[in-house]
Amino acid sequence: MSDSEDVWDLYWEVCLRELEDLGKREAILATSRLIRNLAESPKQPVRLLELGCGEGQIIGTLVEAHAQVRLINASCGVDYSPPAIEKCRRYYPEISFIEGDFTDQGLMAGLGHFEIVLLVNALHEVFSAGYSTELGEVDVPESKRRVEQMLSNAVKCLMPGGYLVLFDGVENPGEIQEKLCIRFRNWQARSRFDSFAREYHPFRISYQESSDPFEVELSVRDFTRYITKSIFLGKELWQTERYESYQYFNEAEFREAFTRLELAICELRPLTVNYEKWYSEVEIVTPGVDFPVEHILIVARKPGGLG
Ligand SMILES: C[S@@+](CC[C@H](N)C(=O)[O-])C[C@H]1O[C@@H](n2cnc3c(N)ncnc32)[C@H](O)[C@@H]1O
Repeated sequence: MSDSEDVWDLYWEVCLRELEDLGKREAILATSRLIRNLAESPKQPVRLLELGCGEGQIIGTLVEAHAQVRLINASCGVDYSPPAIEKCRRYYPEISFIEGDFTDQGLMAGLGHFEIVLLVNALHEVFSAGYSTELGEVDVPESKRRVEQMLSNAVKCLMPGGYLVLFDGVENPGEIQEKLCIRFRNWQARSRFDSFAREYHPFRISYQESSDPFEVELSVRDFTRYITKSIFLGKELWQTERYESYQYFNEAEFREAFTRLELAICELRPLTVNYEKWYSEVEIVTPGVDFPVEHILIVARKPGGLG
């Protein structure tokens, strides 16, 4: 490891000390590595585009940290939330922010081209927006098509040789309708599960009671949705989280979508943060079944050369 990498490690350790959000942290670290590599070429501008930038913490932190890299100030964030964009403009005046819908092909076509495009915890919202009142659930095939269309629009914003950084939830591999049996550790955990099953919006949650009130049987699909939302149950954030499914593509589907878009995957990392919290909430009774992988980080490259 070079001296300058040691300095960057220390910089991020201090800068991200208070940052608990795994998606933001992993996206910032992965993108910082890319910026440092790209900036080694003297002719290389580095412009970032973040789609679904929220209050701008990721793109803002990256631009501030790498301010010495030429043209980094031509970076751009897009979000359709007016209060979020208002904060972005106030906190990070050196970046341009656009208030708009990133599923709008006209808007995307007008953004121009970037060396790095970030999609952090944004695509699951596109998937969740595909809720069908007729079905009473998310229309899965149609919503997966919308996610892939969105990915394709994002790739069009990349320069040849540019990088896409994606962080989001990930679906379980294999047969997600298979059943498993879980046992709640206490009455509070049981009651939080009941609230989840009643209030989770994207999918109808079904489960079977057993003779033991602490045990229920449910599908891998519903268990994954429950356990990855369990940290929000009983908190204010649940009122927004209950409308979003983190899971849409499994790892194989991400790989297939990236291959169809002719992106070469440089890094793919499954990540889980809440294992200990989950374990204190519930035990998996069915032998051979473990808690799910929660998130995925993918860094992929568009063909062609930069510079
Ligand atoms: C969970 S937040 C993530 C924000 C940011 N990427 C981060 O990780 O800090 C998702 C953001 O995507 C935005 N969003 C979701 N769908 C969008 C769309 N179709 N067009 C623009 N913004 C969208 C939401 O407003 C929200 O700010």
